[in-house]
Amino acid sequence: MPLTHTRDLFAKALKGKYALGAFNVNNMELIQAIVEACEEEKAPLILQISKGARQYANPVYLKKLIEAAVSLSNIPIAVHLDHGDTFELCKECIDEGFTSVMIDGSHLPMDKNIEVTKKVVEYAHKHNCVVEGELGKLVGAQHDDGEETGGYSKGGVYTNPDEAVAFVKASGADSLAIAIGNSHGAYKFKGTQHLDLERLKAIKKALMDANLGDYPLVLHGASSVPKELVDEVNKYGGKMPDAQGVPESDIEVARRTGCTKVNIDTDLRIALTAGIRKVFTENPKEFDPRKYLGPARANVKTLVRHKVKNVLCCAGHAFD
Ligand code: G3H
Ligand code: 13P
Ligand code: ZN
Repeated sequence: MPLTHTRDLFAKALKGKYALGAFNVNNMELIQAIVEACEEEKAPLILQISKGARQYANPVYLKKLIEAAVSLSNIPIAVHLDHGDTFELCKECIDEGFTSVMIDGSHLPMDKNIEVTKKVVEYAHKHNCVVEGELGKLVGAQHDDGEETGGYSKGGVYTNPDEAVAFVKASGADSLAIAIGNSHGAYKFKGTQHLDLERLKAIKKALMDANLGDYPLVLHGASSVPKELVDEVNKYGGKMPDAQGVPESDIEVARRTGCTKVNIDTDLRIALTAGIRKVFTENPKEFDPRKYLGPARANVKTLVRHKVKNVLCCAGHAFD
């Protein structure tokens, strides 16, 4: 089965009122775990690749791994560039056949963000690709010291509903990533763990009132940083004190309020790490990678099955 277009997945998700899981991949084990989980749950899937993933694994390896996954599964799978930071990188991915790209101009002034997003949209639309833009500035690892210094999310610029309308109209972006207190990584909140869901509702309403229809929004930083996995990491020699994610109940409200694409990376990393640490601690003599990557992959699969079934509610919608 060839790739399914992101555009088609979005159209069905909007109609069916569920969210699409966009899971970040860097290696074979992650791809296998995610695809198998979605296959078993009959869930449509977006695999997303960051610039860092391309640098780590090599774009050709990732492309071939995804081709293998697509040929071995029945579910619809789209491939998306996560946080493209230049027109050139977006163009490269569009030329490679990605079904969607994100151009992240969120750190730029509004007019410059519109300019670069519009340029990517013009190229993408000529080449059968759709584009995610971002307005507002996420907090966390990407835009401040974040977890690298053990700090918590700070700063950030929340998306303004009227500016969201102006941005979408001027740039032509097909979907919009919004900043409502969300952030990347494992240390999202200190104290109260909540997204600004009222702001999300206001953004969705403003887009609707501006005749942009049921316009798809994207929630980055949607990892819930499951306590049981963090406890497991810490129990087996890790050090992730006070890691905090977005409560899954907030993600569910975000889904119902119009976040059609929900990005998850950190939870996959924690699940993988917990599995590896457990084997290393319980059996320090082990040195066959299959013996620790296998259980780690199984952890990721369990996590993804839970997300698509209980949080995103896209399970069972693969063949709608
Ligand atoms: O939003 C960022 C994603 O988690 C990708 O992270 O740039 O370390 O691959 P990365
Ligand atoms: P998390 O760090 O919460 O998993 O967010 C991932 C993400 O937004 C990728 O673009
Ligand atoms: Zn992101």
